Amino acid sequence: MASTGPRNARLYVDGREDPIELPILEPSLGTDVIDIGRLTNEGYFTYDPGFVSTASCDSNITYIDGDAGTLLHRGYPIEQLAEQSDFVELCYLLLKGSLPSPSEKASYAAALVAERDVPQGVRDMVGHFSRDAHPMGIMTALTGALAAEYHQGLDITDEADRWDTCTRLIAKMPTLAALTYRHGKGKAYLPPRDDLSYAENFLYTTFADDENYTINPVIAKAMDRIFMLHADHEQNASTSTVRLAGSTGTNPYSAIAAGIAALWGPSHGGANEAVLNMLAEIGSPENIDAYVAKAKDRNDPFRVMGFGHRVYKNYDPRAKVMQDTCHEVFAELGVEGDPMLQMAQRLEKIALEDEFFIEKRLYPNVDFYSGITLKAVGIPTEMFTVIFTTGRTPGWIAHWREMVSEAYKIGRPRQLYRGQTARDYVPLAERG
Ligand code: SDX
Repeated sequence: MASTGPRNARLYVDGREDPIELPILEPSLGTDVIDIGRLTNEGYFTYDPGFVSTASCDSNITYIDGDAGTLLHRGYPIEQLAEQSDFVELCYLLLKGSLPSPSEKASYAAALVAERDVPQGVRDMVGHFSRDAHPMGIMTALTGALAAEYHQGLDITDEADRWDTCTRLIAKMPTLAALTYRHGKGKAYLPPRDDLSYAENFLYTTFADDENYTINPVIAKAMDRIFMLHADHEQNASTSTVRLAGSTGTNPYSAIAAGIAALWGPSHGGANEAVLNMLAEIGSPENIDAYVAKAKDRNDPFRVMGFGHRVYKNYDPRAKVMQDTCHEVFAELGVEGDPMLQMAQRLEKIALEDEFFIEKRLYPNVDFYSGITLKAVGIPTEMFTVIFTTGRTPGWIAHWREMVSEAYKIGRPRQLYRGQTARDYVPLAERG
């Protein structure tokens, strides 16, 4: 809204003569925000489970318009970035706020290469997990182990230390992901190669048996784009977790480990794994109508995984790019006829034409096509959210750095208490 000078919201409360004046803060894009900070002094809290109507912070990094289906990273549309940029450049953009010059990009890419390897202690740790341990649990643990290794002397008030932390986490996450995957396959760790790009090195350290491994450039480009599509998404559940954990001044690697734990949930980053499990459960196109009916039944907990979003009430712009990437990968691998893809396309068509989904504004989100694409690339289902973790790390750490680079308060929500009122203790001997 065009600025007309300071504006206030006036809160009229029964029994009070004067309204409570609450300042309205105007964004550069999107929804006006009512600053309720003074409400506690007026004797009130607000109540907003799930933070549906709550802005937890101010940020310059990413903007989403859910109605328009728009996603901007530092003002640049995700469609243009996915088409013309790459993941390393997007990491720089999220952190620095502007696109790098050629020399800045080259030195940033080199700094990431130099930090790809992980400490021996972290490498050894993975061997203590069982073969079928879930990769997201391993990733949470290994990232926590980085916190243990990189704690001594870390000063989060020092920008050089903050920048090093950002570089290390972005550089090491794919190495942890590859280490986790190889542990599950009983394969030894493969040291990163300096001559490969970010995505190429991820594919090499994950799948290669030796230096002769050939990297398919179409698959490498698809992996890079998948990392980009997951890079950041404003104050989603896992990023909010990173901010809340980081607001205590904790070790940033441990705040990222908390974000990984939050991302694992099937309502969040675990949805890509849940999409594949859902398609497997549906089994064949003939069963789709019955499952769509289950999704519409209020008494049935079944949800169409990969559909719906807290913010997007239109197509998730990432889903369209993901769908294109999916078709590119399937064409390259000559598997366009894959039954899983065909089922996903049929489910999408049915859902998009169904009155229930239209009325509730439920559209495919980024997770709907990412799972089947990753499966085609050879990533096992239980590793899908590990890929999401690797892509989201720059977003998480950019939000952490944005928060701790300014004055910040520890996050400490209040509550609507509905428990017992005060009562006296009853000694055991006096109880019935
Ligand atoms: C990600 O926040 C982010 O930005 C997340 C993310 C990111 O990049 O960080 O974009 C990544 O997490 C994407 C979302 C992945 N999750 C899924 O695909 C799981 C399936 N989707 C649903 O669980 C759900 O849509 C959520 C969790 C994503 C959003 O839930 P909300 O915002 O709390 O919405 P809601 O549950 O209140 O749904 C509104 C209505 C409800 O019906 P009513 O109670 O009004 O009758 O829509 C229904 C829901 O039952 N609904 C669905 C549905 N999603 C919502 N019904 C069937 N299938 C679905 N998928």
